[in-house]
Amino acid sequence: MSSKLSNAPIEHRSRRKRISLIACAVVIIIVIALAIGLGVGLTRKGSGNNDPSSPSSAPTSTVSPLPSPTVQPTWAPTVNSTWQIVLQNPLELSSDATSITPDVEVYDIDLFTNSAEVISTLHKLGKKVICYFSAGSYEPDRPDSGDFKDADKGKEMDGWPGEYWLNLNSTNVRNIMTKRVELAAQKGCDGVDPDNVDGYSNTNGLSLTPADSISFLSFLSNATLAHKLSMGLKNAAAIIDDVLPLVHFSVNEQCAQYSECSNFTAFITHHKPLLRRQRRRRELQHRHQAHGLGRVGRVLQLLGLHHAAEYELNA
Ligand SMILES: *[C@@H]1O[C@H](CO)[C@@H](O)[C@H](O)[C@H]1NC(C)=O
Ligand SMILES: *[C@@H]1O[C@H](CO)[C@@H](O)[C@H](O)[C@H]1NC(C)=O
Ligand SMILES: *[C@@H]1O[C@H](CO)[C@@H](O)[C@H](O)[C@H]1NC(C)=O
Ligand SMILES: *[C@@H]1O[C@H](CO)[C@@H](O)[C@H](O)[C@H]1NC(C)=O
Repeated sequence: MSSKLSNAPIEHRSRRKRISLIACAVVIIIVIALAIGLGVGLTRKGSGNNDPSSPSSAPTSTVSPLPSPTVQPTWAPTVNSTWQIVLQNPLELSSDATSITPDVEVYDIDLFTNSAEVISTLHKLGKKVICYFSAGSYEPDRPDSGDFKDADKGKEMDGWPGEYWLNLNSTNVRNIMTKRVELAAQKGCDGVDPDNVDGYSNTNGLSLTPADSISFLSFLSNATLAHKLSMGLKNAAAIIDDVLPLVHFSVNEQCAQYSECSNFTAFITHHKPLLRRQRRRRELQHRHQAHGLGRVGRVLQLLGLHHAAEYELNA
């Protein structure tokens, strides 16, 4: 369709698995991006408003936000919840474990590779569990991969051989995702972290638009709230204002790299947590200073992200 000829999409891919392999590189990228990217972001939005407490730093949208669902999830993370995300491998946790390191409140783990027993053990240890799955991409190695049709698939994802963008309008895709959400409920997950919902900002081969993502998140909201599960929004800065009423937290990987951290402050002003994929600030700041780049903590604070939950990469 003609939209192929419009703005060249900006590659904006998630980096969710295998990340620990490149953790050191990522930290360095984040450090540099914080020094340069956040600085640029601040400069850009700095004109005419120097009051750091002003909520006007939240981007405004011309589209009305979707109405708030009438159903609430049983549990959702809060602004100061502590997190750990472990996607590359299943958690190693024996059913008689009496503690887990790190001793955070919330674990974000892979829906398929972790058993109901592991989730139950996490609950016994007083933890809440968010289950990760890819909602907008075909992965070849999942138990239900054979249920996708060729017509559901768009372009192969840049940097992820064998993984393809999915048509978010497809009834078949939505049925598969409904089953994934049901599996999350059966396994005892408290919330879900659906990845790759921002195909519109990538070369997807399907002419996906932000409106398609908004419609898809509306569908996912219904599917998850049927089981009273909370739901996160992964990246997808451009649609935050539209879908904010439907989502309970943000999972963000690369806002600094794309100079768009300020776009995520809408979550904070609505008392919803930001799960940022980064090293703990103290460590980051330490490394940052070691590189002679100044103080990261202060940059985050200026952006109003000081309530952002922080967690460590599973490096
Ligand atoms: C989160 O922690 C900060 C710093 O301890 C505190 O000022 C703030 O009130 C807390 N927010 C919530 C919602 O608990
Ligand atoms: C999805 O459906 C909407 C409404 O029918 C349509 O406008 C849009 O072009 C479709 N998108 C794709 C990628 O098929
Ligand atoms: C979600 O559920 C509401 C209320 O049940 C319904 O009106 C709406 O059409 C549903 N949306 C989608 C995308 O399924
Ligand atoms: C982020 O916010 C800025 C400033 O409001 C805006 O220009 C930009 O388009 C936003 N980015 C996205 C991806 O929506």
